[in-house]
Amino acid sequence: HFYCVIMAGGIGSRFWPLSRESKPKQFVDILGIGKTFIQLTYERFSSFISPENFMVVTGKAYKEQVLEQLPALKEEQVWLEPERRNTAPCLAYAAYKLRQKDPDAVMVVTPADHLIIDTATFSRVMQQSLAYAAGQDRLVTIGITPTFPSTGYGYIEVGDKHAAFSRVLSFKEKPDYDRAKSFLEHGGYVWNSGMFVWSVNTIISEMTAWLPNIADAFAELAGNYWMPGEQSAVDKVYAASRSISIDFGVMEKSHKVDVTCADFGWSDLGTWTSLYEQSGKDEAENVLSGEQIIANDTRNCFVKELNPDKLVVADGLEDLLIVDTKDVLLICPRTDEGRVKQIIEGAVSLK
Ligand code: GDD
Ligand code: MG
Repeated sequence: HFYCVIMAGGIGSRFWPLSRESKPKQFVDILGIGKTFIQLTYERFSSFISPENFMVVTGKAYKEQVLEQLPALKEEQVWLEPERRNTAPCLAYAAYKLRQKDPDAVMVVTPADHLIIDTATFSRVMQQSLAYAAGQDRLVTIGITPTFPSTGYGYIEVGDKHAAFSRVLSFKEKPDYDRAKSFLEHGGYVWNSGMFVWSVNTIISEMTAWLPNIADAFAELAGNYWMPGEQSAVDKVYAASRSISIDFGVMEKSHKVDVTCADFGWSDLGTWTSLYEQSGKDEAENVLSGEQIIANDTRNCFVKELNPDKLVVADGLEDLLIVDTKDVLLICPRTDEGRVKQIIEGAVSLK
């Protein structure tokens, strides 16, 4: 009864210009290791979830890319959204549709853009969490020891740090900087990894409690059976649905949240900065990724050259992010990349 739902519908705008609306980062080999993020995600779970028990929820435009990159999946395992509505509708869709297939289903939900180093520990923690969630009416989160006051993550207040599975006292999604800092100083908080484990019954009852409009719309759809022609009904539900994340919509509100704190070398490769931090650097703290890069008197720079036949010479530079793809050259301050997201969000031509 164990399933894995991969959420792969984001556009990864913070990884522009490598991540594009037509080919978001989950379908790109951002690490340059011959595998894309979605392939790495699939691999991590495939040692304990059988291929037919994977589902990918993604935008219609990405169906072919998913099937091409995950050849073990059949078409009916790729569940399509007509537009992005963030993760709550995505997970409502997944839960209701999966319950139809298997009323006792227990699912692990995962983003498609994380880096996990210790896959053995990861696999053990996930299997324990699935077994735990199968026997309890609880929403299970995976807690990661925080290392800096990030404003991009959810914070989980842990009831009992020594328990394998502890009650969650509170869940705060994306706090402002001061709040994040006070959580770190307090010490009783961990980051939400963004992966969740729960039975379809528990998440459906919590969605019914906290997001009744979304839950009711999918419940009605499920009541009318999923069948051919189903896609147009799904599209209607999406069109009427608001956009909200599972974190704001359910996790912050629910009283049924547990956490297991784990240490498996997790990082959310959501931004160029996080990739820079994860990458090997030279003695001047540069990350130089490309076939031919010469750096002279250059420090703290991240240079990514995607064209193998182009020579890049960086001379006298500091704190810059330089990304050169086939059609776009981006140069900006390495530590202020939030600006990139703002620029491209306003300009359709850049997507
Ligand atoms: N199918 C689908 N549809 N997937 C989506 C959509 C959507 O509309 N929107 C986002 N996703 C996918 C993204 O591709 C990503 O894999 C995952 O859902 C999470 O979305 P993000 O936008 O990356 O969320 P976040 O990083 O801001 O925050 C979440 O992850 C953090 C850890 O990485 C939260 O769960 C935080 O609490 C958590 O700390
Ligand atoms: Mg993310």
